[in-house]
Amino acid sequence: MELTNTTALVTGANRGIGRAFAEALSERCALVYAGARDPESVAIEADNVRALPIDLSSTESIERSFSASRKQFESVDILVNNAGALSVGLLEEQDVAKIYTSMQVNLTGLMHLTKLVLPTMLERDRGYIVNNASMSGYAYFPLASVYAASKAGVVAFSEALRRELEPTGVRVMHLVTPGVKTDMLAATEQGYGDHFDTSEWDQVEPAEWAEKMIDGIKGDESIVWPSGKTRLAALAGRGPGFLLDRAAGRMFKR
Ligand SMILES: NC(=O)c1ccc[n+]([C@@H]2O[C@H](COP(=O)([O-])OP(=O)(O)OC[C@H]3O[C@@H](n4cnc5c(N)ncnc54)[C@H](OP(=O)(O)O)[C@@H]3O)[C@@H](O)[C@H]2O)c1
Repeated sequence: MELTNTTALVTGANRGIGRAFAEALSERCALVYAGARDPESVAIEADNVRALPIDLSSTESIERSFSASRKQFESVDILVNNAGALSVGLLEEQDVAKIYTSMQVNLTGLMHLTKLVLPTMLERDRGYIVNNASMSGYAYFPLASVYAASKAGVVAFSEALRRELEPTGVRVMHLVTPGVKTDMLAATEQGYGDHFDTSEWDQVEPAEWAEKMIDGIKGDESIVWPSGKTRLAALAGRGPGFLLDRAAGRMFKR
């Protein structure tokens, strides 16, 4: 898709990958809505970026966010579902509230928001829906059971919806995001503690991953893959189970 003259919306754009996405899009799009639970926390210095309150915590908060800025949501050509919440660790030690939040923000909220934004894209017969999944949506490692389930859901949703929208002008792409240097990556490493050796993980800069996302939209891609070891792990996740069993056996101890 050609980005000139488009309006983009990024959820979770106040920090981390979402902020980098909004910054990268602001250099190419006419207008970027930087979605955040607290719009005051958006600190992107570009004339064409506007903060928009978006809280994905519940059905009600999503409906409220949409109703409060209906006109803005309905003008969106590129929806980047980026916001995410983490729940990792041994399952029996995970906080139940975090499990629910993770599924709500990463998956249910993403589907709900997409459903609200889609009708006007269909009316204009043009749009791009970008879902920030994860390599965890492909390669299912210990300690990420809940997170991986939410991201595998994002992959399934993205691929089914992409096929459903194939006869229309609306495209769907998902990102097989590798380790990116953000608060979430730091929290993951902390949550894994001594159970998992993360020293071999790829770690890319948010701005670098944002450029891959931009290339994906410009090239009408449906999947953006990472490179290096992360790509191998993602592909191994689609192969026979013993491949990841061996890798997990090397990196994980209970
Ligand atoms: N970093 C990685 O290594 C990595 C790898 C694979 C995939 N990802 C995915 O990439 C996306 C961005 O991750 P990140 O690393 O940038 O994480 P991050 O630094 O922790 O940022 C998470 C973002 O999501 C927002 N968010 C959380 N709960 C929300 C809610 N209820 N409603 C609206 N927004 C909410 C946060 O807003 P607040 O500031 O208000 O909390 C923040 O803007 C996530 O979907 C994540 O799963 C990240």
